[in-house]
Amino acid sequence: MKEGGEMIEFSKSYDEFSGRYQEAAKYGENLLPLSIAESNAVCPKFVQDIIIETLNKKPLEYARPSNNLYEIISQKNKYKNVKLGKQNIAFDLSALSLLVHAIKVFTDREDGIIVFTPVYFRFFELIKMNNRILYECQLKETENKGYVIDFDELEKIMSKSEVKLLLICNPHNPVGQIWDFPTLKKISLLAESYGLQIVSDEIHSDLAFLSSKFTSFMKLSDTAIIIDSPTKSFNTQALKIGYAISKDATRITLIENEVNKSGTGNPSLLAMQAMKSVYGSEGELWLKDYKKIIRFNIEYLENTIKKMMPDFSMYYPEASFLVWVDTKSQEKLIKFLKNLEMDNGVLVSNGCKFLDPKGTHFRINCGVDSMLFMKSCGIMVKAYNQVD
Ligand SMILES: Cc1ncc(COP(=O)(O)O)c(C=O)c1O
Repeated sequence: MKEGGEMIEFSKSYDEFSGRYQEAAKYGENLLPLSIAESNAVCPKFVQDIIIETLNKKPLEYARPSNNLYEIISQKNKYKNVKLGKQNIAFDLSALSLLVHAIKVFTDREDGIIVFTPVYFRFFELIKMNNRILYECQLKETENKGYVIDFDELEKIMSKSEVKLLLICNPHNPVGQIWDFPTLKKISLLAESYGLQIVSDEIHSDLAFLSSKFTSFMKLSDTAIIIDSPTKSFNTQALKIGYAISKDATRITLIENEVNKSGTGNPSLLAMQAMKSVYGSEGELWLKDYKKIIRFNIEYLENTIKKMMPDFSMYYPEASFLVWVDTKSQEKLIKFLKNLEMDNGVLVSNGCKFLDPKGTHFRINCGVDSMLFMKSCGIMVKAYNQVD
């Protein structure tokens, strides 16, 4: 049995080109990087095998998605009962590049785009960098229902004539909330009545802890663009690939035109080979194992917070490996992060980066091996105790 689970192996070293390592090195020596949404899980063995076989036996030539790959996506559980063909799926090198294409297709310069905040920072960075206007609809934190959408506020923003697009993150990064069916239905009806385009980034959905809770926006809308990729769930970010799906083939053609205009071309042969293999039965087993490890780490963090850092609290996510921790005080957060970033410390993300309305949160990545994670929790307790 491999460390942490049956199928998952973790790396103890960093590559010279590792983004996580380079990010942590900016802050200090030997920091454990738990800020970027990536794991130290090694590429699944069955993916390695297919890559090695390809490298050994085939030329690394230009590649195109095969009919088989389109079919594999359309057969995924989350799209069951939706009839999808080749004309409904567009590929590119990443989820975010597809997001930018969608922004360009469905909005003009100075148009407004709504996001629910706090949110993955690349969303609003890309909106602003592409000269669109960011409209924040702040999520409301409740006692027992987690984070909810403020529909009065949402409708107020939607009614502005310059607002053209709503960008959803489901499951939501950083809070880990899965938007349930009634919530999505309400969003869908509102968007339809104000003529807004929906783009739903569902890249964390294969990591839903209760897969039955997740509903793809695809099921609710004939026009929404869904963005997805296997790279987050299987920690294969280096194999750049992403895809956009919609029931509306015309919209997908418009996205494909943007992909063509950008000149990037199709994802690589290796990325498509990897995607084909992770979307099979071995991938399902791998995910099951990975979720077990993630949940162990999240529970460990929850216990550590309860017992050793009682001034803090956290929201137990419904999906994925990102946990949103509330320090309850802006001053405490700054002091805590400063202590945590000392040499041999841990790097987490300040919630401000995600437009945290309270300014008291940080986001921590629980998707790494449990030994490393437990060590990090010990370092966090030390940093907490040093906050005066
Ligand atoms: C919600 C969300 N979308 C997109 C991405 C990035 O995906 P890609 O690397 O395929 O652009 C991330 C990465 O953390 C993410 O959390």
